[in-house]
Amino acid sequence: MASDRITVPSLQKMKRQGRRITMLTCYDATFARLLDPHVDALLVGDSLGMVIQGGSDTLAVTLDEVIYHTRAVARGVKHAHLVADMPFMSYQVSVEEGVRNAGRLLKEGGAHAVKIEGAETELVSRLTRVGIPVLGHLGLTPQSIHTLGGYKIQGRRREQARKLLDDAVALQEAGAYGLVLEAVPLEVAEQVSQRLEIPTIGIGAGPHCDGQVLVIYDLLGFDESFQPRFLKRFDSLGVRVEQAVESYAEEVRQGVFPGPEHSFSQAAKRPSQAPDEAKRPSRAPDEAKRPSQAPDEAKRPQAPDNGKPLSAKKTAEASEVLDPTEKLYSSASGD
Ligand code: KIV
Repeated sequence: MASDRITVPSLQKMKRQGRRITMLTCYDATFARLLDPHVDALLVGDSLGMVIQGGSDTLAVTLDEVIYHTRAVARGVKHAHLVADMPFMSYQVSVEEGVRNAGRLLKEGGAHAVKIEGAETELVSRLTRVGIPVLGHLGLTPQSIHTLGGYKIQGRRREQARKLLDDAVALQEAGAYGLVLEAVPLEVAEQVSQRLEIPTIGIGAGPHCDGQVLVIYDLLGFDESFQPRFLKRFDSLGVRVEQAVESYAEEVRQGVFPGPEHSFSQAAKRPSQAPDEAKRPSRAPDEAKRPSQAPDEAKRPQAPDNGKPLSAKKTAEASEVLDPTEKLYSSASGD
C-alpha cells in the first residue's frame, strides 16, 4: 500500500482536522488515472446507469456491471480511496445477500468500501463487523425515485429533517464511516455535519458538509442541457469533444489525415537516427498532447492534388523519412 493512500481512518482524520474531502465519480481506468492524484476518493456510482448506459434512472444497474466498472477504475487508482455503489436490489432482499454482494465488490471489483442508500443499519453493522467499510447515503436516494416521486430536495419539512438527522446518527452508530448527503437544504446538512463525528460528503447539500462529490461527466460539462442548481460545470468538454471529432472526420474525408508522419514504410532505417531514438514517440510528449493544427486551420484541409489524397501522394517521400524498425507503441513487441 502506497504511503499516501487515502484510507477510512485518514478520511475521518481529515474531518477532525477540518480538511475538506474531495470525491468524484469514476467509471473507467483512463479517468481513474487522471483523477486519482487530485482527489481523496473515487466513487463508482450507480449513476453509471445514466451517464454510461444512457438510462433515465439508476434502477437497471446490476451488481455485475458495478463490479466490471470498479475493476477498471481500480487499475487506475494508486492514491484515492475507492468506493463502489451497491446497486438497487443487491442488498434490499436480505442482510445475507447484502453481505455476499458487498463482499464481491471488494473481492472481484477491488473496491475499498461500499456505499449503501438509506438507513440500512442492520446491514451496515454486519458489514462493519466483517471488515467491509460502509459509506451511508441519505437525503435524495435515487434508488427510491418512485417512492419519492422524482428528484426532489429532501428534508425541507421539519419532521423530514428530524428523521434525516436520526437516520444519520443511527448509521454512525451502526458503524458507517461516512455519509453522503444528497439534495438536502444547507441548514439540514450543516446540522447533520455538526452532530456527526464521521464525515459528511455533500452533493446538492451546500457548503457545510465535510466534503463534496460530483458526477465527473457533470463537472466536465459533457451535457450542456443538464443544469441543476447544485452543479458547477468546470469545463465544456462536450463541445470540445464534438469540435475535435468534427476536425478528425473532415481530415479523413479530405485525405489530410493520416499523413506520412503518421504512417510506416518498408524503407531502410535512417542512418542519422540514433538507435534509442527509434523507441521514442516521434513527437515530444507535450507536443503530442496539443492538436497538430489550430482548430480553424484543421477545418481547412489542403486541397487534394489531381484528385488523389495527400497521404497517397506523399508515400514515396514518407518511405525515405520513416524508420521501419520503429515500434507501433513504445511498449509493443513491434510485430
Ligand atoms: O451514483 C452516484 O453517482 C452517487 C453520487 C451522486 C453520490 O450516488
